[in-house]
Amino acid sequence: MNNVIRLIDSHTHLGAPQFDPDRTDVLERARAAGVVRIVEIGYDLATSRAAVALAAQHESIYAVIGVQPNHVADLPDDWLDQVRALAQQPKVLAIGEIGLDYYWNAAPAAVQEACFRAQLDLARTLRLPVVIHSRDARDDTIRVLRDAARGLSGIMHSFSGDWEYARACLDVGFHLSFSGPITFPKAVNLHDVARRAPLDRLLIETDSPYLAPHPFRGKRNEPSYVRLIAERIAALRGIPLDDLALAIWRNAEEVFGL
Ligand code: NI
Repeated sequence: MNNVIRLIDSHTHLGAPQFDPDRTDVLERARAAGVVRIVEIGYDLATSRAAVALAAQHESIYAVIGVQPNHVADLPDDWLDQVRALAQQPKVLAIGEIGLDYYWNAAPAAVQEACFRAQLDLARTLRLPVVIHSRDARDDTIRVLRDAARGLSGIMHSFSGDWEYARACLDVGFHLSFSGPITFPKAVNLHDVARRAPLDRLLIETDSPYLAPHPFRGKRNEPSYVRLIAERIAALRGIPLDDLALAIWRNAEEVFGL
């Protein structure tokens, strides 16, 4: 059974120092769990370059590059040119993670939004999908997406919110990617979204090393655990894991153009 299920972890940060001691073992465990594709996400210029390099080293790994809202302060003047150049490297699937973060508020909202919009425009120019990071910024995220992301393919990374928010994201044409919190017993709003969202708009991710699913909550996360997220969504929807895994595999191929 294990062998026939193919899973894709749509969002990892395997370049993080938490994986320095055992990155090879982590990738081996992922493969053993059926996680045969992994999308490594940059969040600033350095980690975007590292994501491209990691993808070059491992057949199963792809890269997404961009500047995340917690890293938009102190960018060099040519940052967008650097993002553009990185976007054209081999195995780069999308621009991300990009968006708004009013939890950390690392830069003024106007600065965050300007960087977000610049990268949405770049994605449109390059015909690439986008990976969206949004934290405590639901209304402004939806406003910007409605205004500037129509016609783009996109993924709401580590979606957290209720059905109303989910529907707004789906209306823009985006996919919802579920992470560890979907496995938490008290995440009833998320469970509701996972049941109601169309099967062809779902993705799964670990956001490793963060957001480990139950029963590893609070520990280091890793791509092999994406299977626990798939199992939880399949159970919530009352469908076999094989069916869910196949749907998600196809969704990822469609969004990322694989
Ligand atoms: Ni991330």
